[in-house]
Amino acid sequence: MLVNSKEMLIKAKEGHYAVPHFNINNLEWTKYILEKCNELNIPVILGVSEGAAKYMGGFDVIAGMVKGLIKDLKITIPVCLHVDHGSCLETCVKAIDAGFTSVMIDASRHELEENIRITKEVVDYAHERDVTVEAEVGHIGGTEDNVTSSITNATLEDCQKLFEATGIDSLAPALGSVHGFYKGEPNLDFETMKIINEALPIPLVLHGGSGIPDYQIDKAIACGISKINVNTELQDTWSKAVRQFLNTNPSAYDPRKVIGSGEAAIKEKIEEKVRLFKTK
Ligand code: 13P
Repeated sequence: MLVNSKEMLIKAKEGHYAVPHFNINNLEWTKYILEKCNELNIPVILGVSEGAAKYMGGFDVIAGMVKGLIKDLKITIPVCLHVDHGSCLETCVKAIDAGFTSVMIDASRHELEENIRITKEVVDYAHERDVTVEAEVGHIGGTEDNVTSSITNATLEDCQKLFEATGIDSLAPALGSVHGFYKGEPNLDFETMKIINEALPIPLVLHGGSGIPDYQIDKAIACGISKINVNTELQDTWSKAVRQFLNTNPSAYDPRKVIGSGEAAIKEKIEEKVRLFKTK
């Protein structure tokens, strides 16, 4: 069932676990994620970056594909179709009109006042249509969609201001996590994470979920993280499996066999993350 993220994230916050957000890149990944999470009987968030949306043809293509897969594969778990790092109101409107059930508006490159103004516009449009909204305070660093940026950590004061002025449903405070693999040990500000979680009634989101050691994921969940975004690790896992398949089957040419050779590895990685996030 396609749903917004409200109930699944509130349940996660109350139950002290994190709902997995996996980024999707094509039909096959979407199918693997849905099948595996359905088998595990856990809710899942399918994240779509602007770059991935462009790659797959657009938000209408993706909404149609996800709805079709849910129906044809008889998926019974709650599935949230979510824009990851929507950069402006127009992107979020397009996705919502196409049938997305959740959006992230990432106006974190602007000053707080402008971030609040843009986020509020998105919330007004989304909430009228029963779509949930995630926003970002501070700035998550690293590389995503081939764009590299630096980290600015969030403060409690800015998080409170943005929440109170906009009525967002979840918040991604930048607290040292980065997109892509980490250089050395991640340096997450757990203390501020805990303080923000205690001060705000909404679920918190951890971006840059790839490559964070297990004990730090445990700590993040204990500090109130209710949704964890994973992209790079699935990409890395899939690429390694496909590379190995092509190396051992140099004459393979059927795209179903080539792309599909990453299926088992992706599904295994999903299960590993779900257990780590205590979703199951
Ligand atoms: P990773 O690519 O580091 O897993 O981060 C994913 C993410 O945060 C998507 O928003």
